[in-house]
Amino acid sequence: MKPVLISGIQPTGRLHLGNYLGALKNFVDLQNSGKYNCHFFIADLHSLTEEFVPKEKPHQIIELAANYIAAGLNPKKSLIFLQSQVSAHTELSWILNSITPFGELRRMTQFKEKSGSHQESANVGLFTYPVLMAADILLYDANQVPVGEDQLQHLELARTLARKFNKKFGSIFREPQALMTETPRIMSLDDPTKKMSKSRSAGCLFIDDSPEVINQKIRGAVTDSGSKIAYNPKEKPAVSNMLMIYKSLSGESMEKIERQFGNRGYFEFKKAFAKLVASHFAPLRRKKMELLKKPAKIKKILQRGSAQAARISGKKIAEVKEKIGLAI
Ligand code: AMP
Ligand code: TRP
Repeated sequence: MKPVLISGIQPTGRLHLGNYLGALKNFVDLQNSGKYNCHFFIADLHSLTEEFVPKEKPHQIIELAANYIAAGLNPKKSLIFLQSQVSAHTELSWILNSITPFGELRRMTQFKEKSGSHQESANVGLFTYPVLMAADILLYDANQVPVGEDQLQHLELARTLARKFNKKFGSIFREPQALMTETPRIMSLDDPTKKMSKSRSAGCLFIDDSPEVINQKIRGAVTDSGSKIAYNPKEKPAVSNMLMIYKSLSGESMEKIERQFGNRGYFEFKKAFAKLVASHFAPLRRKKMELLKKPAKIKKILQRGSAQAARISGKKIAEVKEKIGLAI
């Protein structure tokens, strides 16, 4: 039996290069390796923990599914589904809540960052977010979870909860491992000490930005002291971040890229970099546009996938209920 792999992304708007290089590109590569039994879902329940407009949500869901498929995920090879259509996720999440220490959740970096100085008024969904994520993973007996670095702490909680449940109620869950790319943390173009995120729009390259916008954002990207284009994350964090993106998108070696641009200055490098980003995503952009013309087809893919996911996770939740004495 192939190892089980699962991951999800929240439908909160457009995908940026961090989402792509930290997660989505890897989803596609892992699927195509043929080595895993792949599950990819749309984490719509998680996305409710951020401000949202109900009218926009269906479009955000369809758009993320279109991104999945345009990037190369294939419903014939991977199970693709919508989290909210599979009720076992929320059921297990509640059950896991009851073995999750309050202190563990309060320490979560993402919770601290997102609630900021307003912890008292932060919604409780934001607080228990990692428990729902643990449920997503444990329901499918996942061995591997491809995510960016910012999710490692959440994954560690999933491991802790699996262990704790197994010890307390009998062995039933598998402890999952994280699977990261060589770019688990893409930094913002306007500040290489902050991770790329849509909340820092000037430094965020969206995968469906037009070539003009890509050009403009890259032209405005901060650079380091000295004019040499060289990979040195400590001393040249800004250009090293761009070089890593260049390497991942082009598939060329760092030596080759350094040889090509080393002495040509930032202007030339940025020009070539912008061209690479724009051309790399042009086919994806086109394909996504085509897919978005047929939303019914996308909905059908999600419904079919969700029905299959419900069958798999339904069995698991029945076993869980058995273990905790709820199967009467
Ligand atoms: P989210 O949009 O929060 O659902 O994130 C989707 C995926 O993208 C997760 O696996 C994140 O870890 C990953 N991710 C988000 N931002 C970055 C970044 N700046 N660099 C690398 N991976 C990222
Ligand atoms: N929390 C993840 C993110 O923000 C999304 C997510 C939800 C996820 N459930 C998951 C990722 C389960 C992997 C496995 O990116």
